[in-house]
Amino acid sequence: MNFLPNIIFIVLLVTTSVVFGIRVKKIRRNILLGRDENRSDRKGERFEQMFKVAIGQSKMTRKPLSGALHVIVYVGFVIINIEVLEIVIDGVLGTHRIFADFLGSIYDLLIGSFEILALGVLLACVVFLARRLSKRIKRFDGIEMTAWPKSDANIILIVEIALMTAFLVMNAADEQLQSIHAEGYITAGFYPISGWLSSLMGMFEASTLIVIERSCWWFHIIGILGFLNYLPFSKHFHILLAFPNVFYAKLTPKGQFNNLESVRKEVELMMDPNVDPYATPPEADPNAALPAPFGAKDIQDLSWKSIMDSYTCTECGRCTEDCPANQTGKLLSPRKIMMDVRDRAEELGRLIDKSGKEATDNKSLLNDYITPEELWACTSCNACVDSCPVNNDPLAVIVDLRRYLVMEQSQAPNELNIMFGNVENNGAPWAFPAADRFNWASEED
Ligand code: HEM
Ligand code: SF4
Ligand code: SF4
Repeated sequence: MNFLPNIIFIVLLVTTSVVFGIRVKKIRRNILLGRDENRSDRKGERFEQMFKVAIGQSKMTRKPLSGALHVIVYVGFVIINIEVLEIVIDGVLGTHRIFADFLGSIYDLLIGSFEILALGVLLACVVFLARRLSKRIKRFDGIEMTAWPKSDANIILIVEIALMTAFLVMNAADEQLQSIHAEGYITAGFYPISGWLSSLMGMFEASTLIVIERSCWWFHIIGILGFLNYLPFSKHFHILLAFPNVFYAKLTPKGQFNNLESVRKEVELMMDPNVDPYATPPEADPNAALPAPFGAKDIQDLSWKSIMDSYTCTECGRCTEDCPANQTGKLLSPRKIMMDVRDRAEELGRLIDKSGKEATDNKSLLNDYITPEELWACTSCNACVDSCPVNNDPLAVIVDLRRYLVMEQSQAPNELNIMFGNVENNGAPWAFPAADRFNWASEED
């Protein structure tokens, strides 16, 4: 027996799995550069949220056409991957259709369903691609949608079309080989789609059919392993991250903002009579971690969840489409906020790989990527959070960066400074002294 194909296959499988593992480890490290935040509470509600939004695709179907097409691609891709398991086992052991022997007629049912799903995925991806190339959908455009994000979206769809085509052509050649009882091709499977193609293959000799079947087999599996390694560099990484991302998404009401620990401590020092103001401040302890800033200037100041959001973003533009600031021509695009966080996390990650954890490049997310003009255009309405199908929270990033501008740099728009002054002097946002507060009541008298 010739073991060369098995050896090549095993080397390929191990190498691509290791390279994928290394890249995923780096993304995990980049996510954990962020500030610690507990998102593991209320597990029951989290599982419910994940079942509804990620597995059940509840927000995707708000747009019926792209939602339905996506459900076909999503379900098809997940189920067809059972076939990949068989291909991997066949590749390692040098067998052919190993599941056929012990699954019997269930195998026919499985292959038949895979074929129908493969055709569905293929057609859905063709429609997705046509929609993108026709440039008629506004949300696929925007200042952040430069050449790479656009090519990325097209590459993914073209690869999926090619993979599904190879799968169907492979089955067609296999079925033809089965019908002429070629050596090594056991009679197994039901081919409702490739059966149509198979009749066209009747003109080929057995040797040509074997070349077609083997080429498609290798193309399919090399394509999948290559695709696996492309995922972490692409918006398509959402196919893995969407599930944990939705699981860890915020459970509190959308309008409820988190309190910053750094601010709470400061207020306690000022207001709580039980706090000893003469206790050694943590800054005086050389081993203590640096005090957290008020708000966020760079990746390390954001919650780890905001960085995970950025790696899960599918760049679909639903958030930007629904953003009132964007609709009224302001510079703000919540999708850009997400993409900027990811690009900056990647940049920092590369810097750490090159020069170690303490390295700095004198750049930051605030100003170098996201400008105050974008941040102050936000009305904190939460429309972007509501529309995101993977439950991303661009507003959390915006608010953290704004907090930094206000509390660390005293840089707020003039209107806000007037309001802050009123709160400080009058205990209310209005320009009236506290003593005049009940004047309205005396008028009513
Ligand atoms: C696990 C298998 C999955 C596969 C194979 C998959 C596949 C795809 C494909 C091919 C696209 C590109 C569509 C286009 O360019 O217009 C896409 C986009 C998208 N996916 Fe997934 N996906 C999966 C899981 C998920 C999950 C669990 C979610 C969460 C709800 C999700 C949310 C999205 C969103 C929001 C888009 C952008 C859609 C748009 O632009 O209208 N995907 N996905
Ligand atoms: S919260 Fe801000 S970024 Fe999000 S939709 Fe509203 S205005 Fe736009
Ligand atoms: S944040 Fe959500 S809605 Fe916005 S582009 Fe990314 S995936 Fe789409």
